[in-house]
Amino acid sequence: MSGKISASMMCSNLVDLKETLRIFEEEGVEYLHIDMMDGTFVPNFGLGVDYIRGLRELTSIPLDMHLMIKDPEYKFQWIGIKETDVVSIHYESTFQVQRALDYLQPFGCKRFLAINPATPVYVLEEVMDYIDGINLLMVNPGFAGQKIVPSTLKKAEKVIQLLYDMHHENITVEVDGNITYENAAILKNLGAELFVAGSSSLFKGKVSQYRNNIIRLREVLS
Ligand code: DX5
Ligand code: ZN
Repeated sequence: MSGKISASMMCSNLVDLKETLRIFEEEGVEYLHIDMMDGTFVPNFGLGVDYIRGLRELTSIPLDMHLMIKDPEYKFQWIGIKETDVVSIHYESTFQVQRALDYLQPFGCKRFLAINPATPVYVLEEVMDYIDGINLLMVNPGFAGQKIVPSTLKKAEKVIQLLYDMHHENITVEVDGNITYENAAILKNLGAELFVAGSSSLFKGKVSQYRNNIIRLREVLS
C-alpha cells in the first residue's frame, strides 16, 4: 500500500497559504501536520488554536495534530478536534498516558502515541489496545530543519517487529522529522505508512516547486 503524506504546516508560510492548500488539494495530500507547541514540553511555540480555526475555513483536508504540549489530557477541549483528525499525544508529556488516551476517545479522532528518539519501544506494549497509531519522532521534537537521530532507523524496525509480534499490525506507524526522499524510502520499506513531509522534502524551495516535490515523494512512497 502506498504511503500517505502529512504536510508539516510549520514549514509553510502564511503569504502562500491559499496557493499551498490549493496545490495540496489537487495533489490529494492526505493530512496537514499541525505542530502544536507550548514552550514547556518543547523549547518552542507553534501553531495554535486560532491557526487551526483559520485553516478549517480554508480547506477540508484532515488535520494530523502533533501535540507537543505538557499534560494534554486537560486541554483537548480547547483545540477544536474533529472525527476526521489524527491526534498524537506524547508519551513523555503526561504521567497518565492511558487516562489521556481515554479522555481523547469521545472526540472520535484517531488516537496516536508519539515517542521521542530516546524513549524505548517497550513503552508501547501497555497501550496497544488504546491507540490507532504511533508517531515515531526521528528528531528531537520542536524544530524543523533538523537531522535524523541515527538510532531511530533501527528503532523503527523494532516498532514494526513489536506490532507484528503483538498481533497489532493494524496500528499505523507515522514518522516525523527530517523525512528526506531517501529516509522516506528506507522507512517505507520498513513498514511506515504516514510520512510527515516538511523542509526536508515537500517544502523545499518556493511554492511553485511544491507540486513537483509532492510528485517526487509520491514516487518514493508508491
Ligand atoms: C519536528 C516537527 C516536524 C518537522 C518536519 O518537531 O514535528 O513536523 O517540522 O519537518 P523537517 O523535514 O524540517 O524535519
Ligand atoms: Zn510533528
